[in-house]
Amino acid sequence: MKSIAVAPAKVILTGEHFVVYGVPALVSAVDIYSKTAVSTRRDTTIVARSSSPRCAISINGEHTRVLEGERNARKMLEPMIRVAQAALNRFGSRNQGLNIRIDSEIPVGVGLGSSAAVAISTIAAVGKLCKRRLYRETIRQLAFGSERLIHKIPSGIDQTISTFGGVIVYQKEKPFRRISPRQIFPIIVGDTGKRRSTGKMVSKVRTLLAERDVFAKRALRSAGIISRSALAALRCGDLKRLGQLMNQNHELLREIEISTTELDRLVSAAREAGAFGAKLTGAGGGGCMIAVASSDCTSSVLQAIGHAGGTPYLARMEHRGVRSWVIN
Ligand code: MEV
Repeated sequence: MKSIAVAPAKVILTGEHFVVYGVPALVSAVDIYSKTAVSTRRDTTIVARSSSPRCAISINGEHTRVLEGERNARKMLEPMIRVAQAALNRFGSRNQGLNIRIDSEIPVGVGLGSSAAVAISTIAAVGKLCKRRLYRETIRQLAFGSERLIHKIPSGIDQTISTFGGVIVYQKEKPFRRISPRQIFPIIVGDTGKRRSTGKMVSKVRTLLAERDVFAKRALRSAGIISRSALAALRCGDLKRLGQLMNQNHELLREIEISTTELDRLVSAAREAGAFGAKLTGAGGGGCMIAVASSDCTSSVLQAIGHAGGTPYLARMEHRGVRSWVIN
């Protein structure tokens, strides 16, 4: 028997980093997916393979063997095997051997929530294979534990959006709120191609905010106002206003020193090509930026991002969260 689960990537519209300190953030699931297929083995070994990045690893008890792609196998697949083991324990099938195949379309380390989506699809596939009734909240909690191993002090935003999908207001330690934007609009994404570690960026911001107390208080207050105003703009379908708020948010992210020359270049190019607004998305330090634009301007914004050295694509909001099914 085999089970499959699919979980979406995300883009943060406003509030990244500040969300770690309790500020609300606005986030949307997008139509880029991680897919995990899981089947049982007759032994107790767990073998995990990924197609992108290409790597493979097997773990049996304390014995780990890298089968392909040393660095990525240890960095990406080892934590995923731990996630699968946590799911097996939770769903009552401890010591079950598994073959795990991960096919993720989500670029790694660029702010689109790839590690959370891979963890979510893996947990859901394992849960389905164990024939358990799967509660989304359980999936999210299990993935949150794994994200702590990778990003050390995450807010939980990535796991929540990949599990539940849609567009949500996320505030740490509070129930998230699902929102219905008045208008569904495409989100323009520009990838600088530069990877970075979310954990390192979060630590960098923590140090900066700890050293500059007065600035930190002002920045957190401004970030909260931006997210609340962006929520109001989304609710009444005012993309122009949303764009302005995204611009303000980008300035704030520049002030906490997580933007880069490449990100600023793509953001300026998008604005000059007529976008309502643009900002980096996710942890910064490289990775992706996003822009919103009228339908008339979308193709020129995509082109401008390409000319400025980024890889542009158009993402659509995804209302569905993780989905899983069984193949006999
Ligand atoms: C990462 O997608 C978003 C950050 O705010 C970290 C987090 O919230 O866990 C940078």
